[in-house]
Parts: sequence; C-alpha cells; structure tokens
Amino acid sequence: MFESVEPAPPDPILGLTEAFKEDPSPGKINLGTGIYADDTGKTPTLECIKAAEKVVSETATSGGGYLPMTGLAEYNRDVVALLFGEESEIPASGRALAAKTPGGTGGLRVAADFIARIKPGARIWMSDPTWANHNGIFTAAGLELATYPYYNHETKALNFDEMVATLKEVPAGDVVLFHACCHNPSGMDPNAEQWNQLADLAAERGFLPLFDFAYQGFGTGIEEDAFGLRAFAEKGMELLVASSFSKNFGLYNQRTGAMTVVTRTAEAATVAMSHVKLAIRVNYSNPPAHGARLVAAVLADSDLRRVWEQDVATMRNRINGVRQQFVETMATKTDKADFSFVATQCGMFSFSGLNKEQVLELREKHSIYIVGSGRISIAGITSANLDPLCSAIAAVL
Ligand SMILES: Cc1ncc(COP(=O)(O)O)c(C=O)c1O
Repeated sequence: MFESVEPAPPDPILGLTEAFKEDPSPGKINLGTGIYADDTGKTPTLECIKAAEKVVSETATSGGGYLPMTGLAEYNRDVVALLFGEESEIPASGRALAAKTPGGTGGLRVAADFIARIKPGARIWMSDPTWANHNGIFTAAGLELATYPYYNHETKALNFDEMVATLKEVPAGDVVLFHACCHNPSGMDPNAEQWNQLADLAAERGFLPLFDFAYQGFGTGIEEDAFGLRAFAEKGMELLVASSFSKNFGLYNQRTGAMTVVTRTAEAATVAMSHVKLAIRVNYSNPPAHGARLVAAVLADSDLRRVWEQDVATMRNRINGVRQQFVETMATKTDKADFSFVATQCGMFSFSGLNKEQVLELREKHSIYIVGSGRISIAGITSANLDPLCSAIAAVL
C-alpha cells in the first residue's frame, strides 16, 4: 500500500524552517515563519503568561474529563468581547457565539466545515495573494475557491479599486475571506474609510464575510486592529471570525484560537452553533484546555490584562522599529532599490520585492531563508543580523 506512494511536497513555509534547522552555517537567518522573536532572536514567554501559569496551576486540574465541544465558556465570552469591544452591544446580545478551536488554523477549518455543512459546494473568495494555507484548508473542506485582486506588486500598494470591482460581482451567499489586520503576506490593510466601503458592499451584495484575525494588536493596537470586522458587525450583518492567540499571547504551541459566528438574533446564533458543534465533533471532538485557561486567567484580572497590553505593545513596537531600521540600513547599502515601502506596512510580514532567483541566491550563498514569494518575516530581524542581512540583499539585487 505505501511502497508506491510518492512523497508529498514540503509545506512552503514550515518546510523552509526544517531546511533552516539543518543548515550548519553559524550566521544563518530565518525570515520564513511568522513567529515573533525578540532582539536576541528568541521567542519569549510573555510576562502575562508567566503570571497566568501560576494562577492556573493553583486553580485548575488536568483531570475532570473532557471539555464541551466548544471549549471553556469563560474563554469563549472573552473572545467575543475582544473581537467586538466591551462597549459594543454584541457581547450581551447573544447574537455572537464563539467556540474555542486548536489555533486560528483550527478556527478556519471549523469555519470551512460549518460553511460546507450549511451550504454544500459554497464558493469562497480570497485575496490575491493570501496566506498559503488558506487554499489547502478550504479545498480540504470541499469549498470552491476564487480570488479577488488585492495587492499591486508594481506600486506596492493595495489594489483597492480592482478589489471593489470584483467584489461587486460576488453573488449573495458566496463567502468572502478578509484578513482583519496585518494582511499576510503583503502587510497592507484597507484604511478605515475603505473598510466602511467594504462593509457597505457586503451588506448590499449579501455575501458572507469570514474574517481571519491572527494578529490582533500587531498592527496599530488591540482595539484599533478590530476596526474592519467591527465596521461589518455594527451594520447588524452575519459574519464569521477565525481568530488566534498564537501571536498576541505567544501561545503558538498551545493551539489557542476560536471560531465565532455572528448572526442577526440570539436564536439564530444557537442554531448555527449546533452545526459548529457537529463540525468540531467529527474533527477533534473537543479542544485542548490549557491555552484557554491561560488567556481567561489574564483577561479576568485587570492587572494581568494591563501586563498583556504592555506585552503586545512591546512586540508591536519592536516590529515597527525594525521596519524603520531595515529601510534606513538598506538605503546605506544600495541605490538599486527603494525599500521605504516596508516602513508603511504593518504586522509581521512584508513583500520585499525580491524575486525567486534572488531568494534562492540568498539561501544558497548567505544562508538567509525567505519564502519563494519574497515575503519576509520582519520579526526575524535583530540588531545582530540586520547589517549582514542588508549587505546580502544588496549583493543579490
Ligand atoms: C493569516 C493567518 N491566519 C491564520 C494563521 C494560523 O494561526 P495559528 O498558528 O493560530 O493556527 C496564521 C499563522 O501564521 C496566519 O498568518
């Protein structure tokens, strides 16, 4: 059975990390995966999580049987409050219900399976380009894929007019995936006015928005980064959100995310959740508990919440500072290309504009690992590797 099976291609992003690990070069640099690292190149445990670990170890036990299919109720309420804001009418209304999922990826897959249950063969529109795993997740759930223009590689800007022109043609009942903030891979988001325009368009056309929210707090701020999805929700529309605490709580390996359904009424939300539960039941039955307990412990304590907000600000400020330093250092190394656009983007990623050949040369000659599209993970840049990195990029231009 297995002897004749051809090997599967390596994952374009995680496969790169495997190759990086095997590279013996002492000066190797990994700008492939979207994992936050501090200026020493380490992925820290956040201060709020260190404190929450103590709280959880004193209050929770690992015994006690399974969690419900949707996970810890307290955590799910926290998710809804973070998405829509404490002041919004949505958390109290009952028209938004969350289910804890294993990471944002789990949230996306549950959303996809839920959509496939209620509308078999549904079509989902994704930005061109988008996070590589979106294609695989939605295909695996049996959805039909389509794309809308998003990023202009020439101008290094949002292709907003073409995006709107395509979305105007999307039929009612199709699903449109938006990155709520810190678009991966381009680092370019719609501004407030554009989000409002997109929300009006969704209301007018009747398509279902699905938000992928993996970087809350990494763009402008925890509240500010939710602007886009709140613009839609405030119109009373139905929407889905797959969110993740991998980055903003540093809980990468605790697989801590959620899928939230927003409907027009509390009754409709309960019915929708009955289908979400079945999608979960046949997938992983019920989610792991520890990451959710940590997040709930942080958000239940006003002091710990302030520590978290500071932790997120520290990560955001470092990334924005590195963007600036990268632009300034590149300017001293070469005049063949202008990298000033990198400082105008936000979040963990940037399209560097490097082509496939340059990416390959960086890897083979300089042990610098970047995904083939030229997307770089800004958080992989440190004071120690900034200068050699910029010299190497200048050398391959
Ligand atoms: C756009 C986007 N969505 C979802 C995810 C998945 O997050 P998680 O690691 O929580 O599954 C990522 C992670 O890199 C991402 O970049």
